[in-house]
Amino acid sequence: MPDFATGDLALAIVHHVVIFALAGIIAFEVGVMKPGLSTRDIPRLGRADMWYGILATLIIIVGFSRAIWFAKGWAYYSVNHFFWAKIGAFLIVGLLSIQPTLSILRWRRAQKTDPSFVPDDAAIRGVRRFLWLEVFVFAWIPIFAAAMARGYGMAP
Ligand code: HEM
Repeated sequence: MPDFATGDLALAIVHHVVIFALAGIIAFEVGVMKPGLSTRDIPRLGRADMWYGILATLIIIVGFSRAIWFAKGWAYYSVNHFFWAKIGAFLIVGLLSIQPTLSILRWRRAQKTDPSFVPDDAAIRGVRRFLWLEVFVFAWIPIFAAAMARGYGMAP
């Protein structure tokens, strides 16, 4: 059984690595989801989106493990406004990712009946808008994290 400091360090490392991986996946999706995407881009987006789900789940598991059992403990985070702002922002990113996921799944299904299927530009631009909104909200999370870690936003 690792001691507290080792467990805390391990989870902090995993937290950061998985967050950077998720940022990479979002950047990949923004880079590929453009008018003119090819038939081969749709399965690539599908695979990236599957990793999105896996990484987001890992972030939740690791993040809450840190908040409850490691770092400063639940008594600290549960009354910290920046912690809840961070969780809220992460939740909004998750909700914003539903539209892109459903679109990609629909396009993959359409490709099964018509292998030459590609979505029209308007549909691609619509999904792209959601991806950029995700980027915008995601960018606030490290700001809330830094404030939360330094004791700002504690309820009186
Ligand atoms: C369910 C989701 C999450 C939970 C429960 C969570 C929880 C935590 C906890 C407990 C810490 C330790 C803070 C401390 O040292 O007191 C932390 C640190 C951090 N988190 Fe998260 N996190 C989550 C998601 C995210 C996401 C999505 C990002 C980035 C986009 C992120 C970025 C950071 C950063 C940058 C730190 C280091 C803050 C610092 O020491 O200055 N977290 N998080």
